[in-house]
Amino acid sequence: MSISGKKILIAISGGIAAYKIHFLIRDFVKKGAEVQVIMTPDAEQFVTKLSISTLSKKPVYTDFYSDNGTWNSHVELALWADVMLVAPCTANTLSKMVHGMCDNLVIATYMSAKCPVFIAPAMDLDMYVHPSTRKNLEMAESFGHVVIPAESGELASGLIGQGRMAEPETISNTIENFFNSQQEAQTLRGKVVLITAGPTYEALDPVRFIGNHSSGKMGFSLAEEASKRGAKVILISGPTAQTINDKNVELHKITSAKEMLAKVFEFYDTIDIGIASAAVADYAPKEVAKEKIKKNDENLTLELVKNPDILKTMGEKKTHQFLVGFALETQNEEENAKGKLEKKNLDMIVLNSLRDEGAGFKNDTNKIKIFTRTEKKEFDLKSKDEVAKDILNFVESQLLK
Ligand code: PMT
Repeated sequence: MSISGKKILIAISGGIAAYKIHFLIRDFVKKGAEVQVIMTPDAEQFVTKLSISTLSKKPVYTDFYSDNGTWNSHVELALWADVMLVAPCTANTLSKMVHGMCDNLVIATYMSAKCPVFIAPAMDLDMYVHPSTRKNLEMAESFGHVVIPAESGELASGLIGQGRMAEPETISNTIENFFNSQQEAQTLRGKVVLITAGPTYEALDPVRFIGNHSSGKMGFSLAEEASKRGAKVILISGPTAQTINDKNVELHKITSAKEMLAKVFEFYDTIDIGIASAAVADYAPKEVAKEKIKKNDENLTLELVKNPDILKTMGEKKTHQFLVGFALETQNEEENAKGKLEKKNLDMIVLNSLRDEGAGFKNDTNKIKIFTRTEKKEFDLKSKDEVAKDILNFVESQLLK
């Protein structure tokens, strides 16, 4: 069963339908999921922490602080979850979610969540059809959240119409179908993907280094996308501000090109796909001064020596690995990229040119061309997340050949 082992974060807000959440928790736990529950302060009027925690087998949080003085980290709760379900989601909580009105633990956790979010609204029929609710639900969907529509029937007010929270069975099936479809889309399941990312820093002395502008964004987007497709990812990154919290991604931080080379070859025999998106310094200072270099002379001459070419070494030692290189060019772009494809014994190369606005370093966007020995494909300017999808789609199409 695909729900087994999944981490489900349920946020309960203050509506009468909260009582149905007991059945849902029991169902999830029975199917092998781990369930963590948080509640808005008003939800406590409808259900007790004790009844919920008895079923979920975990403490229930309603505030940023527990009675024993410990802090309930909304960030940790959010990053822990494979999915977040807000159920019942009242008109008030829905409005706070879509407008970022962060005044309780549930909203702070929701705003920290990177996982898919499911919303099961519950309210009286006139509230449910009110234009503000309709607009807020539309906004939630535009954020990519899944709204599990309210059902029709007798409401707590005695009125009859749409507004009842979907039945626990419907909610459970929706989430289970989501996990099933995710599994089907795991096109890289069973594959090990090694990705190099970010810059390398080559020390001159204890305070200075030679580096470059790589932010690591391209490499981290590739790692996230490969993980979403079910791969085990080994991400070897130079110094960047990027973070990743993904159980399928093993992050190894290095500083210099030599360290990157050594780390890559710890894993090289075990990988299926290698993607070199790092901007590796081609040269490093011949000597690293033990003390800070003093500012005495008008000119300072540094002697640099060639760094190892990591990707070229990978190409030379290739046995079964599918190798993808990047080429960052400023002139004769296509010619240089194709040259690197051959020289480094690659299967595919991704060209990005600093002459294209929005492409290359630091930006959240990139514009690429992909080359194999026989094919060329050009892509529009896109977010690096979308570019990562294009690259992996292309890799997969090559692997199928
Ligand atoms: O990190 P971002 O800010 O998101 O920017 C992304 C990027 C611009 C860094 C990325 O898209 C990119 O182009 N990476 C490769 C940069 C580069 O060093 O290109 P190159 O043409 O100099 O190198 C060719 C290939 O050989 C690259 O795959 C590189 O990782 C690899 N290489 C280069 C030198 C070296 N000593 N060892 C290597 O492995």
